[in-house]
Amino acid sequence: MNKLSINIGNTKLKNPLICGAGEHFIELDGIEKALKAGAGAVVIKSTNESEAAKTQLEKTDYVLLNSNFDKLPWDFDPPRDASLFNRSGLHPKPFDEWLEQATRADKIASKYDAFAVASLIPASLEKLIDYARQIENSGIRILEVNVGAPHGEEAASGAIMLEREASRISEITKALRNAVEMPLWIKLTGQSQEIPAMVTAAKQAGADAVTLMGRYMAFIPDIETQKPMLGTHAAYGGPWALPLTCHWLVKTRNKIGREYPMMATNGARCGEDIIRFMLSGASAVQMTSAIFTGGYNVISSSINELEEYLNSKNITCSDLVGIAADQVETYAEQENKKEYWRDFTPE
Ligand SMILES: Cc1cc2nc3c(=O)[nH]c(=O)nc-3n(C[C@H](O)[C@H](O)[C@H](O)COP(=O)(O)O)c2cc1C
Repeated sequence: MNKLSINIGNTKLKNPLICGAGEHFIELDGIEKALKAGAGAVVIKSTNESEAAKTQLEKTDYVLLNSNFDKLPWDFDPPRDASLFNRSGLHPKPFDEWLEQATRADKIASKYDAFAVASLIPASLEKLIDYARQIENSGIRILEVNVGAPHGEEAASGAIMLEREASRISEITKALRNAVEMPLWIKLTGQSQEIPAMVTAAKQAGADAVTLMGRYMAFIPDIETQKPMLGTHAAYGGPWALPLTCHWLVKTRNKIGREYPMMATNGARCGEDIIRFMLSGASAVQMTSAIFTGGYNVISSSINELEEYLNSKNITCSDLVGIAADQVETYAEQENKKEYWRDFTPE
């Protein structure tokens, strides 16, 4: 029995490490490297119909920071506390070329017993539905639609839709579900307090799974130049985001039940982080920055760490899902402690 395998709805992954979409999956070469390193699935860099979203890719910028906001070298060996601050755009190729490459990528993936997942970040509902149909007809096996890309509000008007309300998630997912039968994953923003309601809406409208949750938008002043770092607001993520994602995984699991598959994204940097996400209720984990900044070997080392852990506990990946989430208690249920708040207060 493969202890690492896990089901996301009707899709069986050989292991729960999914490479989340990013610049390292613009070209086929990067996708193949991730497949060779053992990823259960690779999400291809997202696309849509907007020219502005494509040209925005030429204006991307990236900086790795430590917890004092000092810039770190980009040497593919970042320390554990590194955070990534960056702008991003969408896939530079026209849709037809993107689709042709994505179809090839998923055929290659099947040889590795894995998946290359098509990814759309909608600019308009009409084109989203048209592209989803073309993706299904091409034979690609899974579609992820990210309706929560953090750059939505900073991008050129009309380039990227950013949805924060359950009613919109419902509308978009229903339209997609009416258009295609293929496995459909909906990726949601973390910039909302409506996350459990958005997941419920996606589930009820027929999404096979959800991905929680996109990174945060941030602003970092540089104290030397007194200017905004990178010149703009930008998306920000780091290992510190993991507990925030876990919080919403647990809250959502408590609301919608144990059966509905959720994937975690935002904060995983190693195999132990995959375990943390799965204990919080994720069936699989999308890892992006750790691979972008640390290289493809992060994939194999994370899978090895996870496998060693499963062996040491004598459990499977599916056993792991939600163990910690299901033991969460309220403040009121806590016993009185010997140490009172005074013991924690400076004199
Ligand atoms: C450079 C970069 C590019 C990204 N591009 C995409 C994208 O095209 N589509 C998408 O859905 N998410 C994209 N993301 C979001 C990631 O897939 C992922 O959800 C997010 O970075 C949080 O996970 P992490 O902490 O593992 O990086 C991108 C992230 C980064 C850092």
